[in-house]
Amino acid sequence: MVKKTVLVTSGKGGVGCSTVAARLGVAYARREMTAVLVDLSFGNPALDLACGLAERVVYDAGDVLCGRIDPRRACLPVISVPRLSLIPGSTKLDGVPGDAEVIRLFETLRGNFDGDVMIFDVPKEIVGALSEFADVTLAVSDFSAASLRATAALNRSPRAKVRMVLNRLPAEKEAGKDLPTVREALDLAGLPLAAILFDEPRLAQDELNEPGAFRARPAVDVPLKNLSIRLAGGHAPLLSGLIRGRKRRKILAAMAKRRLENA
Ligand SMILES: Nc1ncnc2c1ncn2[C@@H]1O[C@H](COP(=O)(O)OP(=O)(O)O)[C@@H](O)[C@H]1O
Ligand SMILES: [Mg+2]
Repeated sequence: MVKKTVLVTSGKGGVGCSTVAARLGVAYARREMTAVLVDLSFGNPALDLACGLAERVVYDAGDVLCGRIDPRRACLPVISVPRLSLIPGSTKLDGVPGDAEVIRLFETLRGNFDGDVMIFDVPKEIVGALSEFADVTLAVSDFSAASLRATAALNRSPRAKVRMVLNRLPAEKEAGKDLPTVREALDLAGLPLAAILFDEPRLAQDELNEPGAFRARPAVDVPLKNLSIRLAGGHAPLLSGLIRGRKRRKILAAMAKRRLENA
């Protein structure tokens, strides 16, 4: 059985949910831990592409769900990242499976693999059913009001541990002029913070040019590495020294206003 399960979801599409899931897996693997990514987005999977494995998919999470294959046969190693592997999402299944089916799939996958962590990319339609079975659920949002409100509206069990990953903090103050502050973003979403990632314009290019290479991008990798340490009960800074000066003090002050629970 895998030691830890992490769900990654978002209230809205295009905010970086799959990116966070994949890169969090990379962060674990680069820390010498074994990580399995699972794409549960039935219909429009993304992680096979992101991991550079689109051409190699034979079996996927849908085949495991239907009980057609041994779950291990659906698991592909991510070539450029030792210790990271992927169970691709299903293109065949039409629509989202029911809660009971999804929970059964989750338990099957968790039970059939060893390793340190299993990270699930979960559409918002099924996260409500799954979240209480996972160790932690990360809700990803950018700083747009629409996404923050959609985060607040996510279905979740009162027994689930849900934390927020704020994505795409503008690196330049001017660029983020019209966006909510970190404090406002947390208030809108109504969740405790797990991590803040910076906007890294080169990410989209990386995905096109070298899918699956996961070239080091500290603006997202460092906060995710620190998150992986905190998820394991260790201590690592939220802001990782990447922000300095006035901006750092402002963010820290905003965080202090809201009780910060470690993810
Ligand atoms: N921190 C970031 N900085 C810049 N671009 C990002 C960041 N996070 C994600 N993106 C980009 O946003 C797009 C959508 O990301 P994706 O992870 O597919 O979103 P979702 O899974 O929520 O639909 C991708 O092109 C990705 O490269
Ligand atoms: Mg996605």
